[in-house]
Amino acid sequence: MSNIMEKNIDHVLLSEEELRDRIRVMGDQISADYAGKEPMLVSVLRGSYIFMADLTRALSIPCTVDFMAVSSYGSGTTSSGQVNIIKDLSDSIEGKDVIVVEDILDSGNTLHYLFQVLQARHPASLRLCTLLDKPSRRVKPIKADYVGFTVPDKFVVGYGLDYDERYRNLPYIGVLKPQVYQNS
Ligand code: IMP
Ligand code: MG
Repeated sequence: MSNIMEKNIDHVLLSEEELRDRIRVMGDQISADYAGKEPMLVSVLRGSYIFMADLTRALSIPCTVDFMAVSSYGSGTTSSGQVNIIKDLSDSIEGKDVIVVEDILDSGNTLHYLFQVLQARHPASLRLCTLLDKPSRRVKPIKADYVGFTVPDKFVVGYGLDYDERYRNLPYIGVLKPQVYQNS
């Protein structure tokens, strides 16, 4: 590890190859489950943008995409429980088979709120696909339909996930050195 971002990474948790292989399997599973349908994949910005790009390309069925942004962490590492919609979807989800695509399911506060909002818009179906799941930190009763990897209670960055808006462009998922957030 050599560059300015990598010096703050304690270790690689999920390599590029592991991510690619797992997302290929998830794409096959979703393509089979939604055969004959055309799901609408809703990316929760910003953390899921890279996963969304790779997951949609792993699908062999037609789909549409839309994007939504909600507030989550600011620069800390724990969720506030207060969620706001910063950017809403462009299209209606009424009657659509919606799959929400998230980077990580942690406390569940963000998605618990988001699912209430989306359910009220009467989609035909609503499922959750998350790349990472940290079940040990859950405070809201929410379970993903598709999970890429279950991860330990460590703060991770890369492949779309940030700390204070940085590290999203690392091609793998790494554990951030605790001293990076403890000193700020
Ligand atoms: P929740 O509301 O606590 O479930 O938090 C969900 C959001 O918190 C995710 O979409 C991420 O943006 C952020 N988050 C939670 N854990 C991590 C982590 O380990 N690294 C980076 N972001 C995280
Ligand atoms: Mg996020």
